[in-house]
Amino acid sequence: MNGSEVHFWPDNKKISVRAGTTLLDAGRKAKVHIRTRCDGKAACLMCKVKVDDPSGLAPMNVNERLKLGTQADEGFRLACQARVIGSVQVTVPEDPLKAAIRAQLARQAEEDDLF
Ligand code: FES
Repeated sequence: MNGSEVHFWPDNKKISVRAGTTLLDAGRKAKVHIRTRCDGKAACLMCKVKVDDPSGLAPMNVNERLKLGTQADEGFRLACQARVIGSVQVTVPEDPLKAAIRAQLARQAEEDDLF
């Protein structure tokens, strides 16, 4: 172990991993759900996560940069491709389906308040 630590948000879970571990594997180890359909082949783009300071990750490979396009410059990484080399803070975006359900429930609660 070389002290590489991944801190996942919003779950607020930390995990120590070996250098070279992907964020996807670190997430699995920390029991943080990161969506995937292609199981780590850089094909589905569902594993996108946001990283504030990329210095704790190995530089993007060409494939990851191509897949992310302009989002590569906005702090997004593909969890299945990004490899840990130091400590890093990672924000996992909310599942779009869960976000839609939460928004619907909030709308219903607002309507219920009106009556
Ligand atoms: S898991 Fe599909 S692109 Fe990363």
